[in-house]
Amino acid sequence: MSDVAVTALCDIYPDRVDALAGPVAEASRIKPRAFTDYRAMIDARSAYDALIIPTSMITHGIIALDALRAGIYTAIEVGGAASLEECWALVRASEEHGAPLMMLENCCYGRRELLVTNLARQGQFGRLMHCRGGYAHNLSELLVEEHDNNRHMRIYNYMGRNGDIYPTHGLGPYAKLLDINKGNRMVSLVSMASKSRGLPLWISENKGPGHPFAKTDFTQGDVITTAIRCANGELILLTHDTQLPRPYSRAGLVQGTKGIWIESDIGKDDEPPLHFRRMGMLHIEGKSPMAHDRPNLRELWEPASNYLAEYEHPLWREYLEAQGNGVNAISAGMDTIMLRAMIDGIREGRAPIDVYDAAAWMSITCLSEESIQAGSASVAIPDFTSGKWIERKKEAGKYSLD
Ligand SMILES: NC(=O)c1ccc[n+]([C@@H]2O[C@H](COP(=O)([O-])OP(=O)(O)OC[C@H]3O[C@@H](n4cnc5c(N)ncnc54)[C@H](O)[C@@H]3O)[C@@H](O)[C@H]2O)c1
Repeated sequence: MSDVAVTALCDIYPDRVDALAGPVAEASRIKPRAFTDYRAMIDARSAYDALIIPTSMITHGIIALDALRAGIYTAIEVGGAASLEECWALVRASEEHGAPLMMLENCCYGRRELLVTNLARQGQFGRLMHCRGGYAHNLSELLVEEHDNNRHMRIYNYMGRNGDIYPTHGLGPYAKLLDINKGNRMVSLVSMASKSRGLPLWISENKGPGHPFAKTDFTQGDVITTAIRCANGELILLTHDTQLPRPYSRAGLVQGTKGIWIESDIGKDDEPPLHFRRMGMLHIEGKSPMAHDRPNLRELWEPASNYLAEYEHPLWREYLEAQGNGVNAISAGMDTIMLRAMIDGIREGRAPIDVYDAAAWMSITCLSEESIQAGSASVAIPDFTSGKWIERKKEAGKYSLD
């Protein structure tokens, strides 16, 4: 991005800072300042306009807190919270120091998520009743290999914890769609976990009894389901499914009084046109084929890509036109659009995915752990806006998800 420079870098490992310094200097046309202690980087705040914190899931909250307390515009990578206290501390720090916090939830800017958002906002599904999402991604190999070869610590979350430890990819787009924190809020949840077998099985089959984790008791259930009730009566279902053999999915579904959309990733990547299946399938009452003309009930679904011409989100229309490569861009695009949203937010002093969203979404992790520990008891989800959700106004603006 020609209008952005990375002017400072930090990692606790000096070799990582050194490895990044060269490429970053070349891309940014300026030598970045290098740090191994994030507190020193916060002290050097005149060197930058905003801080991006893509450290591990259990460190980014703490670092973000110190950055907000220093009044810095702070962007954090996705992940769940270890405690409600952490979520409240982020909210208080952002409010007291007037520093926006933006959560970098790229899936909120996904092409199909924004297509569905656009369809829903224009009333195609009627009144929304139910959304599902999730993080379904077989991580067993990655958790072990990255730990062994690349100083990666995510696997430690699978020992001792048991809950939806990565809720925001599946929740974010639909929390926005359901106006959570602006006219609606998440009220309570119930979580349930299967037993834990996938990761130990992968280790025994691929690494053998001599591996350091061969005798580890993993506690994180292979499949976790969380049901969330909203103040306006909608039901959200979330799934965390990361240890069993399976293709990647975010398991999306949006259902209202007039129609339904489901994510569908079935098919080969090189099968043209890629966007046909990536956009999922839908059924809209009065528009899609109806039961009386189609005896085969599966034919009542139609490709959501049929609606791209009319309902493609303007952000994606603009992105694809700029790329000049038509319809197949999907993943890189959402990262780029999200980072442009952040840059726009830094300039305007706002965050399209703000501290209230981050706190509410991150809290699902520790609350799902609590619910599972209590035998799938219902637990209350705090109102991190302290009542402001009732009157908070939706924001306009190119990157707003409201
Ligand atoms: N949005 C997405 O699609 C997506 C995808 C992957 C990962 N993530 C998120 O990105 C974050 C990083 O994930 P990762 O897989 O790259 O992890 P990683 O462990 O590979 O990288 C984290 C880096 O942070 C550094 N670090 C840790 N504590 C630090 C501290 N106190 N000060 C300075 N540096 C510190 C580590 O040394 C490491 O280099 C996580 O929050 C993860 O949830 C998001």
